[in-house]
Amino acid sequence: MGISIEGLGYALPSHVLTNFDLEKMVDTSDDWITTRTGIKERRIAKKESLVELAYRASLDALNMACVNPEDVEVIVLATLTPELGFPASACLLQTNLGCRKAYAFDISAACSGFLYGLEIAGSLLLAGRAKRVLLVGAEKLSQIVNWEDRSTCVLFGDGAGAVLLSSEGNGEILASRMYSDGNHWEILFAERCGYINMKGKELFKLAVRSMAEVCEEVLSIAGLSVSDINLVIPHQANIRIMEALAERLGIGMEKVYSNIHKYGNTSAASIPIALCEAYNEGRLKRGDLVLLTAMGGGLTWGATLLRF
Ligand code: ACO
Repeated sequence: MGISIEGLGYALPSHVLTNFDLEKMVDTSDDWITTRTGIKERRIAKKESLVELAYRASLDALNMACVNPEDVEVIVLATLTPELGFPASACLLQTNLGCRKAYAFDISAACSGFLYGLEIAGSLLLAGRAKRVLLVGAEKLSQIVNWEDRSTCVLFGDGAGAVLLSSEGNGEILASRMYSDGNHWEILFAERCGYINMKGKELFKLAVRSMAEVCEEVLSIAGLSVSDINLVIPHQANIRIMEALAERLGIGMEKVYSNIHKYGNTSAASIPIALCEAYNEGRLKRGDLVLLTAMGGGLTWGATLLRF
């Protein structure tokens, strides 16, 4: 039994915040941000709610998969910026979409949220407990960014991405491995109703090492080598992290998908947005082997190898 991504969608807020706009807000420069991170601009949800972004992304995924909202059995929404304290944003999304027969819940695994969600959704599909699961990564990080802190405010953006997963298509998850280590929680966290705190340098090194190691582990579980992979889609945190990862894996950047210049780090939304854009651009085709990897607050990290 397979696990297929039958539909993909993404949604971004309309407001574009460029590096030049940030130059007017904090002591920074386009040159510093571009060379240290690869980011040129990001989207900020001034008018859009988290659930609205998740809804637009999900609707596109359902339409592409030709799936009726009433046929969705489970909705998993990964976010670290939920709409309310409770209920889960997934329940608000459920009612907006009209997925009357589904059960819906949020998961919190920071930038690894989409991969953790894929692990949960994939397990439900493999166990025969559901045939169609909607998996969404959505963030409004602009709400928890300190706009006076130049070391963090230049990095993050808002957005949502969604996939409709089915047990009836031709795709499959060949291997996956998730990790967390709460010992490092202070490297990246936000207090309740507080701002993002980050130790960037430590995170950078841990991100490269842990993503490289887990990618190698997943390839080894699948009995494949990196040369078999068509595309690597890492969490979009910093282009230099992606370049260092590519070097550790022994691949060129042409095999690594990146859209960080347009959106910055959108945490749980970054991989599904990148997946959808890669597909729309023809970089990802049916039957391709794609390696997804992420690392974020928790710390959490993991990798998933898919046949798309
Ligand atoms: N503009 C100008 N100068 C700045 C800015 C800014 N926006 N931010 C920091 N600086 C200054 C610092 O104050 C420091 O000045 P000093 O030398 O006078 O003290 C100098 O630039 C160098 O700062 P560093 O922190 O050493 O810069 P670094 O090269 O490490 O880059 C960065 C910082 C981009 C945050 C990098 O460490 C990084 O990307 N880390 C990974 C963090 C990350 O991606 N987090 C997202 C979530 S986790 C994940 O997704 C993996």
